[in-house]
Amino acid sequence: MKGLVFTEFMEMVEDVWSLDMVDAIILESKVASAGSYTSVGTYPHEEMVALVVALSKETQTPVPDLVRAFGNHLFGRFALAYPRFFEGIHDSFAFLSGIENIIHAEVRKLYPDADLPTFEVEASPSRLTLTYFSEHPFADLAHGLIEGCMKYFGETATLQRDTAPDSQGAQARFILVR
Ligand code: HEM
Repeated sequence: MKGLVFTEFMEMVEDVWSLDMVDAIILESKVASAGSYTSVGTYPHEEMVALVVALSKETQTPVPDLVRAFGNHLFGRFALAYPRFFEGIHDSFAFLSGIENIIHAEVRKLYPDADLPTFEVEASPSRLTLTYFSEHPFADLAHGLIEGCMKYFGETATLQRDTAPDSQGAQARFILVR
């Protein structure tokens, strides 16, 4: 997993809780990199899982809630860091329907070692279905990123999620209806 996801996660922990909390979860999770992440580095996704589990323990907050909140936060950070992905796009359906063939395709060019999920997209003016497939259990992250995107564009559609029961969070379907 790209280091920028880790650096953004640590910043969120510092902003929402404290620097002491950052230190506490690094100790608690015993991550091999000892928390020294750089945005251009690449680290095992298991370290992200271990950090979130430690944060869950320290804050008594369920892991899925934390990962989803992080997704919301991360979308706002992406919007600041990658303004060119937003040029000429004024609506969440337009943005999200390009997640696979435009956004993550560009991300792959920037970071050839990025380990990105796959989204199948079915779009109509009133309904958008995004089906998430990954090697990693980050459906909650996808959920939060979609919510962050909807907030960013002021989208009023409803969002429904169906998680494949035995996928451990590595597959899910998100349906937006206007
Ligand atoms: C400007 C917008 C976006 C940018 C720049 C971006 C970029 C990235 C990057 C750099 C990663 C890390 C890849 C790695 O770990 O090696 C990532 C992962 C991910 N992205 Fe995006 N992304 C964007 C929007 C979204 C949106 C809107 C969604 C949801 C529909 C999404 C879903 C995910 C998920 C779930 C992962 C975690 C990896 C996994 O599940 O296997 N991203 N993205």
